[in-house]
Amino acid sequence: MNNLHVIDHPLVKRDVSLLRAKSTTSEDFRIVLRRLTSIMVYEVTKDIRLDSHIVETPLEKTDGFTLADEVILVPVLRAGLGMLEAYLGLLPNAKVGHVGVYRDEATLKPVDYYAKFPPNLSQSVVILIDPMLATGGSASAAISYLEERDAKNIRLNCVVAAPEGVALLEKEHPKVRIYAAVLDRALNKSGYIVPGLGDAGDRIYGT
Ligand code: PRP
Ligand code: URA
Repeated sequence: MNNLHVIDHPLVKRDVSLLRAKSTTSEDFRIVLRRLTSIMVYEVTKDIRLDSHIVETPLEKTDGFTLADEVILVPVLRAGLGMLEAYLGLLPNAKVGHVGVYRDEATLKPVDYYAKFPPNLSQSVVILIDPMLATGGSASAAISYLEERDAKNIRLNCVVAAPEGVALLEKEHPKVRIYAAVLDRALNKSGYIVPGLGDAGDRIYGT
């Protein structure tokens, strides 16, 4: 699990617990997912580079900073959209690409149906966002799309990671760092993460 960084913070643990609870409504699930994502953004973007300049306060000149790296956010449809607004709140100049991938319920294999990316993937910090990393098939397919388009600096931010998904990404995309709120025990026979939080897309959208 060398590529996995679990964000260890009391506020993260509180919000993961709220997302797990089956009594949490879709409305509250969306609110908590957004809040939890905002907390995780700090950790996921910790190494982003800065440009410096001189800024004039009302009193004197001092050092100021802007973000030097371009950031491209790539939510995996559908559930990744539940994390997007939190990212844009903190990175208002980020560009957004979209990848549509869903898991075939019988085979658990990823089926891709949409991809649209802004230019300059190769020069940007690319953050793939999806609450669930289960078998890893969907994330791996999305990362392959990005790599085929020459993205070099890719990281994944999920909420719940399963050991199986982390292992698959480490094998197939060893340069991709994974940021998760929690590492769960395993996948069950139906491919759900346990203890998990259920189907993230269904819980966000009430389907
Ligand atoms: C969920 C989740 C991930 C995927 C993870 O999406 O948001 O994209 O499953 O599973 P995996 O690691 O085994 O591929 P889902 O397939 O339910 O699609 P949806 O959000 O469109 O419903
Ligand atoms: N996708 C989900 O939304 N939840 C799981 O537990 C596994 C895959």
